[in-house]
Amino acid sequence: MTDQTSQAEPTTIVIFGASGDLTRRKLGPALYRLCAKGRLATTSRVIGVARTDWDDTAFREFVREGVREFGTGYDPEVWSGVAPMLTYVSGDLTSDADFIALRQRLDALDGGHVNRLYYLAIAPAFFGPTITNLGTAGLATVTASSGRRDIVIEKPFGRDGSSATELNTLVHSVFDESQIFRIDHYLGKETAQNILYFRFANTIFDPLLNRNFVDNVQITVAEDVDVGHRGEYYDQAGVWRDMFQNHLFQLLTLIAMEAPAAYDATQLRNEKVKVLTAAKAIAIEDTVCAQYEGFCAASGVAKQSRTPTFAAMRMFIDNWRWAGVPFYLRSGKALAGKASAISIEFKRPPFQMFGAFQTPTPNVLSICVQPDEGMHLSFDAKVPDDIHAVQSVDLEFHYRTSFPHVVMSDAYERLLLDAINGDASLFARSDEIDGAWRLLDPVIAAWEGDRERRLGSYAPGSWGPLEADQLLARAGHQWRAGCGHHE
Ligand code: BG6
Repeated sequence: MTDQTSQAEPTTIVIFGASGDLTRRKLGPALYRLCAKGRLATTSRVIGVARTDWDDTAFREFVREGVREFGTGYDPEVWSGVAPMLTYVSGDLTSDADFIALRQRLDALDGGHVNRLYYLAIAPAFFGPTITNLGTAGLATVTASSGRRDIVIEKPFGRDGSSATELNTLVHSVFDESQIFRIDHYLGKETAQNILYFRFANTIFDPLLNRNFVDNVQITVAEDVDVGHRGEYYDQAGVWRDMFQNHLFQLLTLIAMEAPAAYDATQLRNEKVKVLTAAKAIAIEDTVCAQYEGFCAASGVAKQSRTPTFAAMRMFIDNWRWAGVPFYLRSGKALAGKASAISIEFKRPPFQMFGAFQTPTPNVLSICVQPDEGMHLSFDAKVPDDIHAVQSVDLEFHYRTSFPHVVMSDAYERLLLDAINGDASLFARSDEIDGAWRLLDPVIAAWEGDRERRLGSYAPGSWGPLEADQLLARAGHQWRAGCGHHE
């Protein structure tokens, strides 16, 4: 792991898709904050590439607006240091001539040994031509005098296992795996990273996280927003590809993995891959798919669309630690609230010494990924001045109270800096991508291939379809909303 507080080596960051939403909402504000914190060398450059007919001034203004609208603060003095770092190059990603011109421009700007980071903030249809053209123009070649040449690829990484393999083959024909950073912004969230600290920087929790003590594990990534203006993309993707293949499976691997031999990219990712390898094939009857009412009326969505906006599943990790413990995963849009959490429900005491007075409440450890980042551990306590009554109480940790002066950094800030530093620990390796698709491909194929299969429906603002509750009720379980409480 790299030191996050020191300054990175000067780097030229080339953003393909510089006039797009991701640049405005995430990359611009992240770069601004890195500069404000002095973590980006002032001699670094950001080269925006897109087809839009802009000049440097227009690009700078676009980024500045994004910082003001989506950032966590704007200081004209900081901006006066950031603006000169930004350069704009208009170009067509499918034109090899434009890449040759880009190379000449970059060589002239860099003038020697400088690391370069290519960021693909573009639609997946352009991944192929851009990667090929980077190769053809010699922009990926590392020589003794060039500095590093790395690439960041945004999700979705393929739309199934075979297209992901194709993309991996293509990218490996130009870049070595060590140069590739497949981004999943969930890994950049403080609370996601903290899962590993919580488990392996302490001794009191991890010994309990196994089949002897855990009854079930629940991973919820709920969003209150609907598809908004992303209807066209979302109707093609659906919740399995948009959320499960990446964010939910990443959280799953972090909570289920064994302690890596070292906190580095290779060891960490080796352990995550082992979790996916140990996961049993998901039974189709253990999955639920549903769509919120009104989805088909959203702009860009087909009128008869069967795309799921909510899904839930039960899965098992067939290894020494977790065999027999159900892992329930769910995610959806237009739900009652925004809440990403992992809840670990422990087994009940082996016998009820307090008889009828003992509540049946199990201990629950909840890791709140967002919002109100923190942790809760619920346990039973005797109600004072009552002979036997017990009540479930909470032991709580909140980032906002324990670290009151720290502004939680956005995931992109952390990940961008890691990529600049060449640290791939929090990025997905190709075998992780393969492992995730191997599990999801049959599920998606079963739902997409059988139009008779009943797609559930739910009211916007609810917690999803009834079928999702029934999935847990079969084993006497119940979803836990956010941090430790029943819905
Ligand atoms: C993105 C998905 O990867 O993650 C979006 O494409 C989703 O559909 C978003 O809204 C959720 O991210 P976060 O950080 O708001 O939980």
